[in-house]
Amino acid sequence: MKHREAYIQRISDWLSVQPGQIELYWKGRVGLYALLKAFGVKEGDEVILPAFTCVVVPNAIIYCGAKPIYVDISPKTLNTTLDHIKQAITEQTKVIMVQNTFGLSNEVDEITAYAKSKGILTIEDCTHGFGGTFKDAPNGSYCDAAFYSTQWNKPFSTGIGGFAALNNVNYTQQFREVNSKLATPSRKDRYVLASLIQAKKYLLHDSTYWAALRLYRSLSKSGLVVGSSKGEELVDAKMPKNYFLRAVKVQEKVGEKALLNLAQALENRQQNGLQYNQFLKELGKWHYAEEDLLNHSFLNFPIFVKDKKAFQAAAEKEKIRLGDWFVSPIHPVMENFELWHLQPNDFPVALEKSNHILNLPTEPSNIHQVLDFLQNQADNLL
Ligand SMILES: Cc1ncc(COP(=O)(O)O)c(C=O)c1O
Repeated sequence: MKHREAYIQRISDWLSVQPGQIELYWKGRVGLYALLKAFGVKEGDEVILPAFTCVVVPNAIIYCGAKPIYVDISPKTLNTTLDHIKQAITEQTKVIMVQNTFGLSNEVDEITAYAKSKGILTIEDCTHGFGGTFKDAPNGSYCDAAFYSTQWNKPFSTGIGGFAALNNVNYTQQFREVNSKLATPSRKDRYVLASLIQAKKYLLHDSTYWAALRLYRSLSKSGLVVGSSKGEELVDAKMPKNYFLRAVKVQEKVGEKALLNLAQALENRQQNGLQYNQFLKELGKWHYAEEDLLNHSFLNFPIFVKDKKAFQAAAEKEKIRLGDWFVSPIHPVMENFELWHLQPNDFPVALEKSNHILNLPTEPSNIHQVLDFLQNQADNLL
């Protein structure tokens, strides 16, 4: 079996979705765009999404000619709620996006049932949640479709990459037609990606993490390496050239292999996530409620701090691999929000959370080192 077929078969086994309903892409966001196109999203349509996401999500909506309609998040789960969504629905609402933030899904059953009753389609942004479950069903399976990311820090990695799974078989024809237009990434980009995957394997350690992160972000912003986001995707909502790209061999090969180790990685992350939660609860700091823990796959663990810069500097000194998702309601954009039809002040919870959020690794080389660090930094934790 070729790597592509074997990789798709493994995804299919995890999701219980037929292989023919799955497509692989150069990046996860391309999968979202393909699904929106397959659902016929066009000018005049509205798509509801959380105001606590990555800018490439509203980008895909705008590239279809539709308008993103943001809704605020719950301070408890960092996800949208059915109540928020209900208030944003209009005659123009074509799709509701449900996001699995940091690996947690909530209310997906209620949201999808309500959307169905209104004739609105649903897409789950499962970029953080492949392999996890919501009420014992694989993440992504409640909605009409879901898309997933396999970018560097995701549940499993192919460098950059992603895929989409279509659950609503009524759109199969449209999905295949849209996917038939995918182009192949350039030879240079394929080569650079393969080299980056090797470099990460051999060069990234706790001691090189902070320097490597800064270097990678700067090189990918300037377009010198294939990055998570090209500079142009962060400064305007216009579709870049060479956006609608299929996955390539190196991603299929690496993905097929990476899936073999996923169960162990998930188990490890879940245990560490639960340990962080208990520790922060005992410290009297922000933590998840008991009832949300079962549906959480803990890709990362969010924390909230008074002074981000001081906390990050202390983490760098201690060689702790901190993340900084989401620095704004449309990460990582910090200005010209009107280009994305967003007024950040309309979403006070998302704005407040993005001002204070950082995230802990759930696969640290030594969790006790991270717990000691949190204890020492307790005054800076919210
Ligand atoms: C919430 C969310 N949605 C979508 C994406 C896009 O995924 P990709 O980088 O694979 O296009 C990301 C990327 O990190 C994300 O965090």
